[in-house]
Amino acid sequence: MLSIGAVVTLYCAATFILNTAYTEGKDLKESCSTCRQITDNFSKGFDRTAKKNFGGGNTAWEERKLSKYETSEIRLVEILEGLCDSSSFECNHMVEEHEEQFETWWFKRKTKHPDLFKWFCIDTIKVCCPKGGFGPDCNACVGGSERPCHGNGACDGDGTRAGHGKCSCNHGYQGEFCLDCIDGYFNEERNNTFSKCTECHASCKTCTGSTNQDCNECKPGWEENEEGACIDLDECSKEQSPCKEDQYCLNTEGSHSCKACDKVCTGCTGAGPNHCLACADGYRDEEGTCTDIDECEQADPACPGEHRECVNTKGSYKCFCSSGFEEQDGVCVQTPEPASDESQEEPDSKDTDTPMPKHPEEHEDL
Ligand SMILES: *[C@@H]1O[C@H](CO)[C@@H](O)[C@H](O)[C@H]1NC(C)=O
Ligand SMILES: *[C@@H]1O[C@H](CO)[C@@H](O)[C@H](O)[C@H]1NC(C)=O
Repeated sequence: MLSIGAVVTLYCAATFILNTAYTEGKDLKESCSTCRQITDNFSKGFDRTAKKNFGGGNTAWEERKLSKYETSEIRLVEILEGLCDSSSFECNHMVEEHEEQFETWWFKRKTKHPDLFKWFCIDTIKVCCPKGGFGPDCNACVGGSERPCHGNGACDGDGTRAGHGKCSCNHGYQGEFCLDCIDGYFNEERNNTFSKCTECHASCKTCTGSTNQDCNECKPGWEENEEGACIDLDECSKEQSPCKEDQYCLNTEGSHSCKACDKVCTGCTGAGPNHCLACADGYRDEEGTCTDIDECEQADPACPGEHRECVNTKGSYKCFCSSGFEEQDGVCVQTPEPASDESQEEPDSKDTDTPMPKHPEEHEDL
């Protein structure tokens, strides 16, 4: 009996416990993919060991030794030991379980059945199917095993012993056979076994060709003109604007968007301070542009009273007491002399030339 090596025996205990779950073949798709990896790694191991035990010379003795190694059990063991990553339980389990089959193939079947994947995974342990086949009996996929789903989709279980052989169509295709086009696509070519679906023009809901004149029906946001073509519908030209009062409407191909008016406007027809319907409070129209009113420069003092100063702001102004004065009962009175040295020090000494008001009054209703 052949011993495959320490790598595999390590897994014996775990194998015993989990054996039942795996022989039930719960994940048939995964079994096939594991098997494929194993046979791929077998080929790699086969190539890797090809030059082994060959010193580079070609004496008769070396030739004989090489040819003996080529088909030897030693080489098989070396290949099998490198098949699985030590962390892959499924791989180690499958190799261990089918140790004898590898021997049989190596010594008796290799010449007649050189494709190990086909011999081992498909025909012997039956975890895979030939391309285009699915399920326990490797039945042909919908659309046939040559071109499953007529080349426009994926057959469920394709190449494995799992699945039901039905098609998941690629984008643009639909139907059991993936020959029909979804809405927004049309059949550029079509016969019983072949179909090519191409996207309609952006204006069509459904169509028979690729231009906006080939629509059966226009998409929302588009309308049919006299020539029967679908053209953009200008939502913004409607009498009733689709946007809110503080927004303007922007037409786009097949749609529209609503954008906020500039904040100097009360209603607008476009972006910026020169597309206002009316100016917002604190702004006035100056040659078609809504401009901030400087309340502090008006004839009527905005901040009446002594020792009171006015600062203009965007859309408004602020009143505060001059430096050295403070608000008391609606008038500005002299600030009492500081009692100690400590309070004399200005904490915000960097802002000394723009004294900040202590209690500014905001006027936003002017
Ligand atoms: C096959 O070999 C590669 C490289 O040695 C390894 O990374 C991979 O895990 C192996 N496959 C399995 C199923 O262990
Ligand atoms: C269907 O169309 C494809 C592509 O044009 C062509 O290769 C195929 O022979 C056609 N089949 C039939 C039955 O006409």
